[in-house]
Amino acid sequence: MSTRFEGKTAVVTGAGSGIGRYSALALAQEGASVMVSDIDTQGGQETVRMIQESNGEAHFSPCDVSQSDQVENLIQATVDRYGRLDCAINNAGVSMRPSSTVELDEAEWDRVIGINLKSVYLCMKYELPHMQARGGGAIVNVSSLAGFRGKAGTLAYTASKHGVIGMTKTAALEYASEGIRINAISPGLTESGMTTGLDQRPELADDLIALIPMGRMGLSQNIADGVVWLCGDTASFVTGHVLVIDGGQTIA
Ligand SMILES: NC(=O)c1ccc[n+]([C@@H]2O[C@H](COP(=O)([O-])OP(=O)(O)OC[C@H]3O[C@@H](n4cnc5c(N)ncnc54)[C@H](O)[C@@H]3O)[C@@H](O)[C@H]2O)c1
Repeated sequence: MSTRFEGKTAVVTGAGSGIGRYSALALAQEGASVMVSDIDTQGGQETVRMIQESNGEAHFSPCDVSQSDQVENLIQATVDRYGRLDCAINNAGVSMRPSSTVELDEAEWDRVIGINLKSVYLCMKYELPHMQARGGGAIVNVSSLAGFRGKAGTLAYTASKHGVIGMTKTAALEYASEGIRINAISPGLTESGMTTGLDQRPELADDLIALIPMGRMGLSQNIADGVVWLCGDTASFVTGHVLVIDGGQTIA
């Protein structure tokens, strides 16, 4: 266990699985106290157990990130418990049921935009005042390869992930002079709860992996490594950046 984040507090949304879980584990491994949050209580509590097993400090607080009052409560609970907020990983997200633009129903649009896009606005809205009060902090918003490209059948998901990048750049400019760095991370196809369905569809998995120049899916740990870097002091002059971790797919 390293001490790079000793005395610091992080909140991670969607930390009951995949990229969020590995980010929470990695930050705790570096010495941060981590508020693990998810809509899935069982998954979140499992992440806390994993952190505690490796002698890290973590606590679970449930939150549906699309609901303003729940996000406000989560951030307040974090500060009440740990006294400060240094790092925030706004990671929770969902994929969408594939659908053409005409066939996409409004309820599905609202669900995906609420969980993937509005949530990032809500999280930053309630996280930033605590960082302002202490004169600094680091926020990492999780976007996607879909934040750069279009893909047929994914209108709401693509809109949400493009939007996360736009919000990251705008908020980064608003708070740069206050020592708060706001960056995004853009994973490519990554092994996580979101992609477990591919286990049952090996041919589709092979087709998708064929699009990745490095010839494999990412691991959630690969993304967590980027999250830790963006949160840490070695990225102290980095803000408004989108860190792409995708085995080369975006540039292909
Ligand atoms: N896995 C990939 O290939 C991939 C690629 C690009 C981007 N991403 C992004 O990475 C992020 C993390 O996803 P993942 O791949 O780890 O998937 P995952 O399904 O393993 O984890 C997502 C977590 O978010 C939680 N969640 C869902 N709705 C929520 C809500 N309303 N409130 C709070 N939590 C909620 C889920 O319970 C789950 O624990 C997402 O934003 C996703 O869009 C994933």
